[in-house]
Amino acid sequence: STSEPIRLEDHIRDIPDFPQKGVLFKDITPLLQDAKAFHAALDRIAAHYAGAGIEAVVGVESRGFIIGAPLAYLLNCGFVPVRKFGKLPAETSSVEYALEYGTNVVEVHTDAIKPGQRVLVVDDLLATGGTVLAAIELVERLGGHIAGISFLVELGFLKGRERLEGRDVFALIKY
Ligand code: PRP
Ligand code: HPA
Repeated sequence: STSEPIRLEDHIRDIPDFPQKGVLFKDITPLLQDAKAFHAALDRIAAHYAGAGIEAVVGVESRGFIIGAPLAYLLNCGFVPVRKFGKLPAETSSVEYALEYGTNVVEVHTDAIKPGQRVLVVDDLLATGGTVLAAIELVERLGGHIAGISFLVELGFLKGRERLEGRDVFALIKY
């Protein structure tokens, strides 16, 4: 049997005017529900960081968890959740940030990252970059080293990558 490489972009769909008018929402749920596509996406991100000495994966609630936890498993390192305000039980550090549609506060446990630890920050999608910059701020405050920043999808036209200038940014699918 022939096996063609999986085209991940075929498993992302456009939803117009979600969550508000004028936003063309890239929906990754078809990719997640397709076993081959989900597996291939994670394997490709993990392969990109093979040998990079990643010591922790940080994922941002909630879609960042879907990518981050299996990626941490594949990279054989721990997973650290950055959560929306008020969800983490122990001592936290928090930061407010602007979204493409609204504002938000995220937090991390202050003992979750060790000084000098090599951290990979992951999320499903890069839009304006506000969310991932917030996660980076939290990691760096705790003394972590950002060894990489990774996404399934990058919305290039929102210029999030420009706000991550000088950092190692990897995205599987770009629009
Ligand atoms: C979405 C997405 C990213 C972020 C991208 O999350 O999962 O985290 O927005 O946008 P940005 O680059 O402009 O910051 P959202 O806040 O909608 O939360 P969710 O993961 O709980 O759906
Ligand atoms: N699609 C999916 N998630 C998002 C988007 C989008 O266009 N913008 C911010 N988060």
